[in-house]
Amino acid sequence: MSWVEDGWRHVWLPYAQMATAPLPLAVARTEGSRIYLEDGRVLIDGIASWWTACHGYNHPHIRAACARQLEIMPHVMFGGLANEPAYRLATRLAALLPDPLNRVFFTDSGSVAVEVALKIAVQARLNRGITGRTKILAFNGGYHGDTLGTMAICDPEEGMHRLFRGLLPEHPVVPLPVDAPRQAAFDLYLEEHASSLAAIIIEPLVQGAGGMVFHAPEVLRHLRRAADHYGLTLIFDEIFTGFGRTGSMFAFEQAGVVPDIITLSKALTGGTLPLAATIASDDLFAAFLSPSAATALMHGPTYMANAMGCACANASLDLFEREPRLAQAATIATQLEAGLAPCRAVPGVKDVRIMGAIGVVELEHIENPATLRMALAAQNVWVRPFRNIVYLTPALSISEAEIDQLCTAIFKVLVNNK
Ligand SMILES: Cc1ncc(COP(=O)(O)O)c(C=O)c1O
Repeated sequence: MSWVEDGWRHVWLPYAQMATAPLPLAVARTEGSRIYLEDGRVLIDGIASWWTACHGYNHPHIRAACARQLEIMPHVMFGGLANEPAYRLATRLAALLPDPLNRVFFTDSGSVAVEVALKIAVQARLNRGITGRTKILAFNGGYHGDTLGTMAICDPEEGMHRLFRGLLPEHPVVPLPVDAPRQAAFDLYLEEHASSLAAIIIEPLVQGAGGMVFHAPEVLRHLRRAADHYGLTLIFDEIFTGFGRTGSMFAFEQAGVVPDIITLSKALTGGTLPLAATIASDDLFAAFLSPSAATALMHGPTYMANAMGCACANASLDLFEREPRLAQAATIATQLEAGLAPCRAVPGVKDVRIMGAIGVVELEHIENPATLRMALAAQNVWVRPFRNIVYLTPALSISEAEIDQLCTAIFKVLVNNK
């Protein structure tokens, strides 16, 4: 494994204190819900590579689509040239989403998809001659990415607003209106400040990186009413929740309301290649149309609409049509409910909660998430605790036996950890 040790002197890991970070596990290959390590061990994967690999790793249908596209044309610039997988994907995404979500802007990461959503919301108003509405209302516990624009609309701690004061744009971040008193406070906030706002942004139903915190569909309905009342753009960031994760294809379906913009990434390509999409309403798109170049959306990542990424995304959508992914998410929910229930009795466990194919064990405190991760790997499962939570977001195609192994390992490690 000399490549790990050699490279270790040069790589810089995400979200890691490099002074103390343990050497990562060297992966030789992946298949289904299994990670095969260089040292011969096989881990059951509980998080599907930050919940991207929704069909499991190396699904033959996606692999074939990817290989075919590589032969034909890996990439061609999107400015002025059209590639078939991207145009087909845009058509399919618009068909999959309700009206008026019909206009797709492709990017290459979730953070950038959110950046584009913010630019669309603000510029649509400027293009219509409305000035002074440049703020985005976001929520405590929210997470929308790591770029500077998105950090500014994350929870202030997550986004490190204090550390980066002066660098980050300032946007209001308020408590989620999850109950009557907080709804009243939210309504009052809007009454006083709506005239400076362009948009409201939320991760619908689940605040993922903020600790896998769930809220009721009614919260989304409240936001829809408020956005309509004050003429605000409602952005649902479904980068975590999209593609079956919460039990429905998109989380917003459970609330029966439609946003003005939705952002998608992660499972969009079934965990194969980086791709993201910002899908805007017809009305927002119309705000950019004029005889003048000055009202155009000035954004265009070099690799946007990458043909291989789009071919993989089309193949992933085929699988959602052909294979019973949503039924599998429902089955996983039942299995997680039963499998994680014993954790409720473990001292130090604060909460166990399940939504769709998301299982969360919240602890009072985790001393060292990396140590816990290693203890779980020693049980032959790949689970990556963070803050005070241990969570599972497995492939929707995972087997019952694999779920059992994941839940049993978590219970065993938490008991031994006490
Ligand atoms: C809800 C949400 N938005 C945005 C992002 C950022 O996506 P990316 O890491 O691809 O930039 C994430 C990533 O975890 C996310 O969960």
